[in-house]
Order: sequence, then structure tokens, then C-alpha cells
Amino acid sequence: MTTSTKALPIIITLALLFAFGACSDDNEINNDTVEAASAAVAHDRTTVPDYYTDVRPVIVETCMACHTDEGVGWSMEDPEEAYERHPLIAHMVTSRQMPPWLAEPHVQEYVGDLSLDEDVIEIFAGWRDAGFPRGEPRPDPETRPDPEGVFPADLSLELLPDGSYTPDPSMVDDYRCFVIDWPREEPGYVTGFRLAPGNPRLAHHSIAYVVDPELVDRFRKLEQEEERPGYQCFGDAVPDRLWTDDDEREVYEARYPGGVEELRDGSWLLAQWVTGMWGDVYPEGTGIRVEPGSALAIQMHYYSGDAPGEADAGTQLHFQVAERVERPAFFLWWSARLSFCCRTG
Ligand code: HEC
Repeated sequence: MTTSTKALPIIITLALLFAFGACSDDNEINNDTVEAASAAVAHDRTTVPDYYTDVRPVIVETCMACHTDEGVGWSMEDPEEAYERHPLIAHMVTSRQMPPWLAEPHVQEYVGDLSLDEDVIEIFAGWRDAGFPRGEPRPDPETRPDPEGVFPADLSLELLPDGSYTPDPSMVDDYRCFVIDWPREEPGYVTGFRLAPGNPRLAHHSIAYVVDPELVDRFRKLEQEEERPGYQCFGDAVPDRLWTDDDEREVYEARYPGGVEELRDGSWLLAQWVTGMWGDVYPEGTGIRVEPGSALAIQMHYYSGDAPGEADAGTQLHFQVAERVERPAFFLWWSARLSFCCRTG
């Protein structure tokens, strides 16, 4: 039984999807940067943007979501070292290649838009056109929010069954689903989600699905059928092999007449995370219902290209949960794009 079957969906179109994106915490962080940075420029239009005054604060706020010593991109933590790559930095920003909007071009589910506003891009263009002035060195602004401060967690769960997982060394991209019990004994609404990767160099993105209580055993079995922890999954919480291998699918459907579709329909999107974001905080008053006895199937995309042989040393999931919300909501797959839907009352 899902909320979606009972709900009258109001489909929020793509335009509004961006409004929803703007409510997620990492966007607020970006918007603050945008305002601060453009205020600096608007303050005195005759001043040429320089590195330490205008560019560095944007780098610290936005780029260093990924470009840190531990992150996925090359580290920008040392301001002088980062400055040395000034032509490339300006080029990547003005050509809108950085920050990456869709970390993965063929998947469109990300809600947290990391892209910069036009006036911030103008700062980088002005800086480039003036010959990359350095300005007066100064300490970095203390603007990175503390992830714990995004929201206090009501529920924290360990993702990995044995506390760690080493991605399959035979592939650079390992898509793995892990099934974990939802431990609450009362129905509740998830209003925020945060993921703390056990190895930021490996964790590329994550998608959390709620599993209907009646199907939890079936999802657990999927894990038991594979040798490595979890099970391989790519597009959704259903293992690829059941979609792509006709023989496997036939065997499965002989056993469970509801078939693979039943697995797909019995697991729905709860939250997502992509490297560079903290997670999602849903718009005020909205939450996604999770029944007692449910499980979560969490898909992790591990990319080993920058960290071959390394392990995820323990990814953690943090949830903000409310007993009731004004607008129970759910995600809908809509022409391969994600809509966020809700009902009133
Ligand atoms: C969501 C994570 C993320 C964010 C945010 C991000 N980057 Fe990147 N960036 C990457 C990854 C991944 C690479 C490729 C790996 C590498 O080169 O280390 C990369 C590569 C780059 C490169 C090297 C390109 C090349 O051809 O070698 C530059 C320059 C760059 N980023 C600049 C920026 C700037 C400037 C910002 C902020 C405005 C930014 N990035 C924000 C993830 C990110």
C-alpha cells in the first residue's frame, strides 16, 4: 500500500520542480553565495573583480562542495595552488561546465541544482577579462555550513551490512543496492535526508527507495542471491538482471506471478543525494510517508576511477522525520523527469 495510490496527485511541472530544487539546502547555500558575491560587485561597478575578494568566496561556497582534499575533484583548499589554475577555473565556469549540473547526463533525477546564476558567472568573466588579478590575500570566508547544522537528525542509519563495502574491482562504475530496515514503529513522514559518504572519493550518487512492507522479504532475498553484499541495480531498486535477462526473469515470474513489475511498483523514490550536496530538505510542510515495517533500498553509485581498490568505510543516512505534515508528498516519474507531487489536506 502506497501513499501514491491513495493520493490525488497535483503534478508540479518542471518550472515548479526548480522551485522545489530551490528549497533544498544546498541551493540556499548557493543562493547566499550568489547574493553575497553579486552584492560585492554591485557595491562598486568600477572595481574589477579580483581573486581574493570576489572569486575565492564562490569557490569556497560552491566548488569546495567537491574540490577538497577528500572530495571528488582536485583540491582547491590551498588558495594559492587553486589560483595557479586560474585560466581553467574561469573557462570551466564561464562555459558552464562547472559546477556540474547533472553529474550524470543520462539520469535526470537530481533535484539539487548546483548551477551558478548569471551574475556570478559574470564575476568570473570580468576577472578573466581583467587578466586574473589576485587582489589582497586574506583567509577564506568561514561559509561552509556544518552538515550537522543542515538539520538535526531524528533517525540515523548505517547503510552497509558489514560496515564497509569494496566496490567490484572488475568495473569502474558499481551500482549497488542495499536493503535496510526502517526501524520506526509508528508511521512517519520523511521531511529531510542527508547522506554522509564513507568515502567521498567513491560515492558518486545515491537514491533511496521505500520498500512496501509486504515486499521487504522479497527484496531481502535479492541480496541473498548475490555473493557480494547488496545486489546490483541500475535504473531503479530492481536488479538489472531481472529486467535484462529473459531466463532469470522467467524463473522469477514462475515463482512470483506478480513478477518484476510488482517489485518496481512496490518500491518508490524517497530521496536522493549526489556528490557536492548534503541531501534534501523538502519544502516546508511536505514529507514522504513511510509505514512501520517498511524497508529502504538504497542505491549507491560507486565510481572507482579516482580511487581504485578503495572501500566505502561506512556510509551513514540521516533523516528528519515528522509524525504528521500538512502536505503528504511523493515523487513521480514523469517522462523521464522527476516531478514532486503532493495532495492538499
Ligand atoms: C558536484 C561536484 C563538483 C562541484 C560542485 C564542482 N566540481 Fe569541478 N570537477 C568535479 C569533478 C568530479 C571533476 C573531474 C575530476 C577532476 O578533474 O579532479 C572536476 C573538474 C574540474 C576542473 C578541471 C577540468 C579539467 O579539464 O581538468 C575544473 C577547472 C573545475 N572542476 C572547476 C570547478 C569550479 C570553478 C567549481 C565551482 C564553480 C567546481 N569545479 C565545482 C566536480 C565538481
